[in-house]
Amino acid sequence: MPQRMRSSDYRASLADDFERFKRELPRDFPAHVRDVYGINLSARYLDEPIPHPIGKGSGQLSLNVGQLETDAEAGLAFAVLKTVIAQDSAGTQSMAAWAIHESKMKVERRGDGWTVTWKGRGWDRSFDDYLALVRAGWDFTSAGQLLAVPSVKYHLPRLSEPFRDAEYAYTTRALASAWGQTPLLLEKDFSPTLAGDQLADEKQQILRWLREVPPLIRSKSNVRLAMKLMNARFDDDFQREMMNAASGADALVVFNRLFDPVAGVAYGGPELSARNLRVLDRRSDRPTVPLSGTGNIHSGRLIVDYALRGCSSVQLHTFFQLPLEAYPATEGSRTQRALHALIFHPVDGLVAVMLDLETTGTLERHHGELRFLDLCDHRDN
Ligand SMILES: Cc1cc2nc3c(=O)[nH]c(=O)nc-3n(C[C@H](O)[C@H](O)[C@H](O)COP(=O)(O)O)c2cc1C
Repeated sequence: MPQRMRSSDYRASLADDFERFKRELPRDFPAHVRDVYGINLSARYLDEPIPHPIGKGSGQLSLNVGQLETDAEAGLAFAVLKTVIAQDSAGTQSMAAWAIHESKMKVERRGDGWTVTWKGRGWDRSFDDYLALVRAGWDFTSAGQLLAVPSVKYHLPRLSEPFRDAEYAYTTRALASAWGQTPLLLEKDFSPTLAGDQLADEKQQILRWLREVPPLIRSKSNVRLAMKLMNARFDDDFQREMMNAASGADALVVFNRLFDPVAGVAYGGPELSARNLRVLDRRSDRPTVPLSGTGNIHSGRLIVDYALRGCSSVQLHTFFQLPLEAYPATEGSRTQRALHALIFHPVDGLVAVMLDLETTGTLERHHGELRFLDLCDHRDN
């Protein structure tokens, strides 16, 4: 075992790394962090081991193979592909209203954070095109370069109606055969625009979806399922009730963007992380499903905030989309620049904040190592 450095030496190394990695982030930065700082960033998403906790949430930044290539080169841990709208074998989509196209995205300041304003919804090309993207994603996954997981929005009925089984069957099986191995890893999206839709007016209706969707999807194929929960237009207690109702899933992604009914758009920024962290703070006695955090994550400090509330990975979208001058790095792809700030920022980066937690006694070394996953098991009461 290498001689332990003193805390001030770690800080000096971190300041150094932050400066030199502005020009080029090493792809295997988790190995570097382990060697130099004795910090093990290993994390988990949908029960898969990943080298560090940072992935890309589903959306406009995981629509094509070029984006996946860039992410794999940067050393991103995982990417969730854009959400496709389910269909049956005849191509009928009950959620067709979500397959609309919009080309304009605007990255805007919101409080001391950022949000992306965009009125589009799900995948708006053909299902065959989506299957081709899933196959390409599988190539990256099987090569160990980037875990690339599809995402679907399936039919959601009113309380008095049955689920459209044919959509669940056709879409799930087609994705499973494109993915290349069992089980299929899959996210089911309950989107913010759904939260703003009349369909989501009734609590009982939402809770039924959350209870019944996991067994329904699994009845069609061997699937390991993450359910990405929306922020419903109800209070924090109901948000927690939703988590309990969805406990049949293999993981929960918590929680998608807020919906502004006046402007008719979804939004993120500080209000989103405040609401998400507040809800996650409400401990429940029930056995918890593994969590992946999402919402206004723009620093290592926020990654730790989500981790301390049980999230063993995080999924970002907005932070991968900022104007280039908003990142401290001067070279590299947006993915590399974002990872550089998230990991190596000397005050708010993941390494700095984990070292702070060691200093305050919140996190301890095991066999000389500080482990990211220990944060998720941490309970201060
Ligand atoms: C332009 C845009 C498109 C998105 N599209 C999807 C989507 O298709 N499916 C989905 O599950 N989430 C979608 N999201 C949500 C993101 O994956 C992410 O969970 C959310 O924006 C919160 O993270 P952030 O604050 O880092 O952006 C989208 C977000 C944005 C900004």
